[in-house]
Amino acid sequence: MQNQTKLNRKSSAFILGALTLSMAFVGAVHAADKPMGPPWDAPSSASSKKNPVSADKASLRKGKKLYKAACLPCHGATGKGNGAAAVALPIHPGNLTDSKRMSGQSDGAIFWKMSEGRGPMPPFKASFSDTDRWNILNYIRTLAK
Ligand code: HEC
Repeated sequence: MQNQTKLNRKSSAFILGALTLSMAFVGAVHAADKPMGPPWDAPSSASSKKNPVSADKASLRKGKKLYKAACLPCHGATGKGNGAAAVALPIHPGNLTDSKRMSGQSDGAIFWKMSEGRGPMPPFKASFSDTDRWNILNYIRTLAK
């Protein structure tokens, strides 16, 4: 009887795992169908902030590493907003490869957005130093095509 319970618990854990995994795959494909959030503009005091970190090799390397760890789950490997976790979000994470949208925003504006977050997007000002957030910004800039 006890063995039976153990077996059931094991197999339901397996089923749950398989389900989560397949949802993640479906998410990677269908996250693009999510609606965009309402317009999100940074305050002008934030937008006018200058980027003090030059986008050299070391900065981009650090930024990429942090992006992969903290942003890729939602924003996806290429920045299209189709990360595996995006399926669970009510809105699209936004397309960081959209050069028109990205070039229309100053470094300061994007830095502010990643610092403050909004809705399902967490704020990162407490998790990463200013320098590391600028490193991430420098890396994000390379994603826009
Ligand atoms: C839990 C999922 C999630 C994670 C993790 C996440 N984001 Fe986001 N991000 C979002 C969502 C959702 C939005 C859209 C928010 C809105 O419109 O209200 C967004 C929006 C943005 C925007 C604004 C895009 C635009 O077009 O204005 C930027 C920039 C951004 N994220 C950068 C990052 C960076 C950098 C990281 C990692 C440090 C990160 N995000 C981590 C979900 C996430």
